[in-house]
Amino acid sequence: MPKIAYINSKYIKFNEAKIHIEDRGLQFADSVYEVVAIYKKNLVDFDFHIKRLKYSLKELLINFKVDKNKLKNIFNKLISLNKINNGIIYLQITRGVQAREHVYNNKLKSNIIIYARHKKFNLPNNKFKGEKAVTCEDLRWKRRDIKTVNLLPNIIAANFASKHKAYEAILIQNNKITEGTSSNIWIVKNKKLFTHPSNTDILKGITRETLRILIQQTKLKLVEKSFTKKQLFNADEVFLTSSGSCVTPITKIDSKLINGGKIGNITLNLAKLYSKSFMNE
Ligand code: PDD
Repeated sequence: MPKIAYINSKYIKFNEAKIHIEDRGLQFADSVYEVVAIYKKNLVDFDFHIKRLKYSLKELLINFKVDKNKLKNIFNKLISLNKINNGIIYLQITRGVQAREHVYNNKLKSNIIIYARHKKFNLPNNKFKGEKAVTCEDLRWKRRDIKTVNLLPNIIAANFASKHKAYEAILIQNNKITEGTSSNIWIVKNKKLFTHPSNTDILKGITRETLRILIQQTKLKLVEKSFTKKQLFNADEVFLTSSGSCVTPITKIDSKLINGGKIGNITLNLAKLYSKSFMNE
């Protein structure tokens, strides 16, 4: 369990950190968040996360001024206070506290919550693992580009996956794959990579973005185009990306083995390329 959390300018014992019962984040999911990976005490892709945080706040008209350097100092202090080597930083900014009413007051003071947790990453070493996924209907709202804590459909799908001993649920909308409950989904077919375009139907993952840039240095061709459930099942390789899961191979979907249940070469090479990018940061 983390030792120390940060709430509204104060470092507080994790167990004693509390939020008001009329916080709009709690009552309405009126709140945005970020999850930043920590590798060997270093923040991974910090600048990209800050950029997305600003975007989410702007889209929801939450009046919180992001001070990048201040946040970086808080993150680093939490890493040190909680003695994290590998793990994640969780940051949540709510619209603030108000007598319960759907319409918000424009002058609320946001609550800011930050803490760090240990986490082991699935890195391309001798313990690198392929995982199982299940498919599920995508029941979410139409602004998935905003990273809000409005995650109930993701929670339902993730628990469906867990019940079927799967690592992730792959979401389907009108027969097209959107993304995972907390990851972006990629397929490889005939040495070409496909992933859903970054529009309002998915979250523009930071790992997706970093990998997209890294792919430009390789001979691989990336097509940002949605693909069907049939294409998913017929893919040569499938993998997911997220800050917590890095590049994780998917070797089984529902009852179908992908690439004979083995980690594919392209996935392995991309996982290596991605992990190198932050190991050298
Ligand atoms: N989830 N899509 C969704 C719906 C997500 O929730 C996430 C991240 C991603 C991948 O984004 P990134 O590469 O920036 O982590 C895609 C975080 C890790 C979470 O909710 O825990």
